Amino acid sequence: MELKKIKNDISRMYSKAMVTGGAGFIGSHVIEALLDTGIDVVSIDSYIAGKEGNIAQFEKNPHFKSVRCDVTDYETLKKHFDGVDVVFHQAASKKNVCIRDPRLDLKVNGEGAFNMLELARDKGVKKFVHASTGSVYGEAQITPQDETHPLCPVSYYGVSKLAGERYVKTFDHLYGLNTTVLRYFHVYGPRQESGEFGGVIAIFARAILEGRNPTIFGDGSQERSFTYVKDCANANLFVAVTDGTKGEVYNCASGINVTVNELAAALLKLLGRPDLKPEYKEWLIGDIKKFDISNAKLRGLGFEFQTDFEEGLQNTLEYYKTLF
Ligand SMILES: NC(=O)c1ccc[n+]([C@@H]2O[C@H](COP(=O)([O-])OP(=O)(O)OC[C@H]3O[C@@H](n4cnc5c(N)ncnc54)[C@H](O)[C@@H]3O)[C@@H](O)[C@H]2O)c1
Repeated sequence: MELKKIKNDISRMYSKAMVTGGAGFIGSHVIEALLDTGIDVVSIDSYIAGKEGNIAQFEKNPHFKSVRCDVTDYETLKKHFDGVDVVFHQAASKKNVCIRDPRLDLKVNGEGAFNMLELARDKGVKKFVHASTGSVYGEAQITPQDETHPLCPVSYYGVSKLAGERYVKTFDHLYGLNTTVLRYFHVYGPRQESGEFGGVIAIFARAILEGRNPTIFGDGSQERSFTYVKDCANANLFVAVTDGTKGEVYNCASGINVTVNELAAALLKLLGRPDLKPEYKEWLIGDIKKFDISNAKLRGLGFEFQTDFEEGLQNTLEYYKTLF
């Protein structure tokens, strides 16, 4: 389906969207895509990882409002639901934090999702789109992995995100809430965190731009299914306007598989730094070695991942060159 039609349908079907995690990486791109449709958008973020700079460009838009609010704070959250008819729940406690504070993952990704669902039900929200993760599968047992693959998460983060997904399914089943789950894989692009808790492309780009060797955990043979952030944001809008998505779960992955060694080599080449070399360290606990993901279910509905890997990397590097 063409992006123009998706955006027209959003403005025809909805008047006010809530994006949680709006000051984060993916949330800020979902907001950008939504503001382009002309509907009102409220961003909810605790700023534990989000940045004001990610949404500063939207502050002058009369259709945009940003609120500092924690999704685990039900009473405050409730005050911001008036008029909201579509929710894009992106807020989450993320992977690397969980090894240090697994209870926070459980609270944000489990209870936070539960709060959002209760309020969506009580406030008559028409559509609830939930950001999940490929980490709910754990190691691949059957490839390619489609949405029926066994759910055996191997990290605290994966377990807590699976809890969130299950609450989504339960609210759909018990109350008829119109929900859709998107399982993301290795999303990358401008505004991704490039520090310790960031994504591998952002971390490598920053290291190379700062003249440091990129660090690879493990032997670099691990495969990732890199997905450009604008495609991920557009997939959110797409499922919100497409019939047949109620109660469904979709892998949201570009289908482009690259090893971490190949990624490091591509970035060193694009940034013109043959003098730098990857440095190898011990595998990270819970790291998944191989992703072979089927995106056939989402593409079967008519969604297209439009950005090829080189174009996505170039756009991403343009952004990081302005920072480092
Ligand atoms: N980036 C990826 O590759 C990837 C892959 C799989 C799944 N996901 C999922 O996508 C979603 C967005 O991730 P992202 O990469 O943009 O991460 P991010 O950390 O940039 O964004 C998450 C945002 O949620 C906010 N947040 C965290 N706890 C909160 C709370 N209690 N209340 C309100 N806001 C809170 C953070 O401040 C941050 O702005 C998450 O649900 C994540 O699990 C991301």
